[in-house]
Amino acid sequence: MQIPQKFVAPPRLLMGPGPSDVAPSVLTAMAQPLVGHLDPVFVKMMEEIKAMLRTVFETKNDMTFPVSGTGSAGMEFCCVNLLEPGDEVIIGVNGVFGTRMCDVAERCGAKVTKVEAEWGRIIEPAKVKEALAKVAKPKLVAVVHAETSTGALTPVEEISKLAHDAGALFLIDTVTSLGGCPVKLDEWGVDAVYSGTQKCLSCPPGLSPVSLSPRAMEVATKQRTKKVQSWYLDVNLLSSYWGQERVYHHTAPISMNYALHEALRLALVEGLENRFRRHQENHLALKAGLKELGLSIASQEGHQLWQLNAVGVPAGLDEAALRKRLLTEHNIEVGAGLGPLKGKIIRIGLMGETSKRENVDRFLAAYREIAKG
Ligand SMILES: Cc1ncc(COP(=O)(O)O)c(C=O)c1O
Repeated sequence: MQIPQKFVAPPRLLMGPGPSDVAPSVLTAMAQPLVGHLDPVFVKMMEEIKAMLRTVFETKNDMTFPVSGTGSAGMEFCCVNLLEPGDEVIIGVNGVFGTRMCDVAERCGAKVTKVEAEWGRIIEPAKVKEALAKVAKPKLVAVVHAETSTGALTPVEEISKLAHDAGALFLIDTVTSLGGCPVKLDEWGVDAVYSGTQKCLSCPPGLSPVSLSPRAMEVATKQRTKKVQSWYLDVNLLSSYWGQERVYHHTAPISMNYALHEALRLALVEGLENRFRRHQENHLALKAGLKELGLSIASQEGHQLWQLNAVGVPAGLDEAALRKRLLTEHNIEVGAGLGPLKGKIIRIGLMGETSKRENVDRFLAAYREIAKG
């Protein structure tokens, strides 16, 4: 074969549903020389990552660490560890990622009851309550906190209480919410959570921060009747690698952990409250600018994500052509609609490093120019 030229990445502005832009210091952290994954300096760094993750997740859970894999690996981690064949599970489905969670839970042999909502709307606690009343012995209730496919933020506190009152564990997907809006595991009574690095933490994709409460750990370890069906994601094995024993399990992706360490540090230096305020302000600035252009956000009013804006495409505008021109002429990536929203919305991400006023203005100027024809 002819050996290709060295790959050179163009300077894109990542305003899609993820990955988001990455801070220069995160990129330079990744470019550092490797150390061994059991080297004492790496082990110390792993401890710092765990501690910083507890801070951003607002939890005291000991079992808090980044799974080696993307957000979907975190989803599988939670499901395979908490579910066994025949278990009854209730899952909120209001977009792509609730749908994916049902698939993953079914592959674990669980019996899934879906609580559905129109795409773009939140999962209503009353509908979860109805579902709980119909399920004999619910083991787990799960919802996607921030549905990236539709731009809706489901409030989870009330659903958590309903789950616990019914004797079930409560699981949330925070892939898009973590680092962009409040995520309070202990205050909300969340037993299991997974996230991703490439959204509001502004780190490249490749790790999935997870956390299990002591109750969830009990279910995943002492109460299991069979071994966890996935060797790679079994918390019984991973806990010895990420815990004090440091027993070799797999080789942690060293450079990715360097990156996450720096990304978490940046989030904490900024301060979580300041970071959330920045995401909110830039969302509101985009929303106001869109209004002037005759555009609006399609997800449920009062529950719109700050970090992911699902914008309705005006009739007659070819959204694929719009996205293509944004990318090729302006170096701006935005996302397409998925499933029933394909062709009807574009998804504009203002996540982490991307959430800047100048990026809002750059998008609006580019849109204006393209809309002129
Ligand atoms: C809400 C949500 N959950 C899960 C995932 C899956 O994460 P990944 O693509 O990193 O595997 C995504 C990815 O976009 C997501 O937005």
